[in-house]
Amino acid sequence: MIDKGPSRRGFFGVAGGLAGGIAAASVARPAEAHDVAQGVVPFYGPHQAGIATPMQSSLYFGSFDLATDSRQDVIIMLQNWTVAAARMSAGLAAVPGEQDDDRPPLDSGEAVGLNPSNLTITFGFGPDMFSFAGKDRYGIAAKRPAALVDLPGFNGDQLVEGQTGGAICVQACADDAQVAFHAVRQLARMAYGTATLKWVQSGFSTGTKTKGTARNLMGFKDGTMNPTGTPLQQAVWADDAGWMQGGSYMVARRIRIALEHWDRMRVAFQEQTFGRAKASGAPLGGKHEFDAPDFNATDKDGNYVIAENAHVRLAAPVNNDGTQILRRSYSYNDGASFVAERWPPWHQGVEYDSGLFFQSYQKDPRTGFVKLFDKMSKIDALNQFTTHVGSAIFACPPGVEKGGYIGQGLFEAA
Ligand code: HEM
Repeated sequence: MIDKGPSRRGFFGVAGGLAGGIAAASVARPAEAHDVAQGVVPFYGPHQAGIATPMQSSLYFGSFDLATDSRQDVIIMLQNWTVAAARMSAGLAAVPGEQDDDRPPLDSGEAVGLNPSNLTITFGFGPDMFSFAGKDRYGIAAKRPAALVDLPGFNGDQLVEGQTGGAICVQACADDAQVAFHAVRQLARMAYGTATLKWVQSGFSTGTKTKGTARNLMGFKDGTMNPTGTPLQQAVWADDAGWMQGGSYMVARRIRIALEHWDRMRVAFQEQTFGRAKASGAPLGGKHEFDAPDFNATDKDGNYVIAENAHVRLAAPVNNDGTQILRRSYSYNDGASFVAERWPPWHQGVEYDSGLFFQSYQKDPRTGFVKLFDKMSKIDALNQFTTHVGSAIFACPPGVEKGGYIGQGLFEAA
């Protein structure tokens, strides 16, 4: 995958290298990239890839702090990141040029020989980018969109600082975990001195490996009611006038699930928790996965078939003034601790650090995630098993045209 482009004098940190870098990425290159030219998701376009793109099987997510007070440093980094992201999405090494063996590698090399694996790289700007410790470091505070809110504290939040917030995020998704990791790793290397990783999260999904809807670690089909087609377009893309036009707002939550507890629940209780059948994914009272839920149906005792605190009742658009968000969540498994306590009973043996790295995209989080989760955090039956330990919000700008760079509208438009 490492290409033999024309020799260049170091790609990063050389002001003149930038234009050359952009040009290099936009010129068709010979078959230098990889053995199997397949699985390429176009990087350039009106919207960033990795939002409406069908979910790949692996995620590597990095949230960065900005370590500079220089607006120009940030712009140069974004320009170089854009070129590198376009190159890696096409299966090329992150940085063009000939390797000088007396210098560190231009590209760390672990993606050599791997195909692009539908790699998408999606960038987002967090509140800290617009002002940090009360300081408008880059002269962009006035351009912070109203929709990029500071998320309120929700019922039950147990947020860990080391898994929360950030100035810039990079979401890399691919059908190969090594390709996704490689992408964030290269961008972090390139950003040295300008941005530093604050926290990372890897994730996995059965999305592309199974037919139909992927299952989460609770064993349920997850994503059934995600919007598609026109409703997706309407739910996801920001229509603010200005630099976020055509972008989207991401809310990410690292949600730990007490799997040990969950695994001891009767299947019927698990189904009541969600309001859906475990095997088929059908709404309770329905037969098939995509049947419309009947939220008015009652059983012989007069109880709702889909309980009042069932997850899908609380989340459904019909019960939320039509609110729709796009969920693009990955399961995570970050190891386990081993305990031998007498109580509670599920606290014996293994305790996984596992759950769902929940990601939602929407045109406005105030009428999307915040509206939905404010209610869910208080009464959702799922809360018995879940704890939100990480949280972040990012404004993901619109896509890039060749020759441009990510966030150009934020830095350059009036
Ligand atoms: C560990 C945490 C979570 C798990 C395991 C989970 C799982 C599920 C499952 C199995 C469904 C039903 C199938 C489907 O339509 O996809 C669902 C639906 C949904 N969930 Fe979650 N979810 C979690 C957290 C959240 C959070 C924090 C939100 C925040 C807003 C949310 C919003 C939704 C929405 C909007 C739907 C679709 C409801 C509908 O249209 O019927 N979920 N979730």
